[in-house]
Amino acid sequence: MLISMPSPNDAQADLIAYLDFHVEAGADAALDEQPHDRFGEADMPAPTLRAPRRQAEAPRPVAQSNSLVPPPGSPPPAAPARTFGRAASAQPDEAASDARARAREAKSLAELEKILADFDACPLRFTAKNLVFADGNPEARVMFLGEAPGADEDRIGKPFMGRSGQLLDKMMAAIGLDRTSAYIGNIVPWRPPGNRNPTPQEVAVCRPFVERQIELVDPEVIVCLGAPATQTLTGTKDGILRTRGRLFPYKLPTREAKLLATLHPAFLLRQPVQKRLAWRDFRALRALLDGKA
Ligand code: URA
Repeated sequence: MLISMPSPNDAQADLIAYLDFHVEAGADAALDEQPHDRFGEADMPAPTLRAPRRQAEAPRPVAQSNSLVPPPGSPPPAAPARTFGRAASAQPDEAASDARARAREAKSLAELEKILADFDACPLRFTAKNLVFADGNPEARVMFLGEAPGADEDRIGKPFMGRSGQLLDKMMAAIGLDRTSAYIGNIVPWRPPGNRNPTPQEVAVCRPFVERQIELVDPEVIVCLGAPATQTLTGTKDGILRTRGRLFPYKLPTREAKLLATLHPAFLLRQPVQKRLAWRDFRALRALLDGKA
């Protein structure tokens, strides 16, 4: 009987696929069998900032062996390099107040994007491939805000690129909007690993940036897609089925904008029967923009 033995290259490809699977599923730290003093690590001097993943995506190192087990007599593995910038050690409050100070420095959207790209106190930055800052027209009268990028957005670097984005495009088209007449962003600009929900700490750290982004765009209407965006920007604890269709005042430096809560396209993909509610909200948005509401 012939048994096909995996070639070293197959084994390596399998190992890489196995690691990719875990990263995709949300694993964001590698552990090993040696104990590490993680508390002690927090006192170590902060490392220099790691380059964003996209630039860092050099060819993967070629494994010298196909085995995960080190050969006998080899030295214990070194502690994994700390690559999480200040995100590993900064306290959430400290990170949020730093975010506020930095966001205030931005005098334009381009400056804000640069500041965010350099900001290293949000751990999501280190597991995401790309910063997903915005898409659309910054001069638009209406700004849509979702929760956080998914895999497609992370890969492409723009919000609402996947199935939710396609549905959002259709919903906008139904009321005469598109990405040249609307601006689109997210509450959190980095993809949470494995598409989990961003934690309250991650949202709190990112919030000053999205607030500054809204100020710089200065839209007449902000459309919050789903509960996380609505709750973050209005402070309400109510669920989206209660808040959708409601208009909230949103204070901008020189005037008050209107914030409209509606259902997230991802929710509508799961529950298409709810599209009729979103359609009501989008008609209300059209009426607002036409000065008829
Ligand atoms: N869902 C979101 O909330 N934002 C995106 O950019 C994509 C999907």
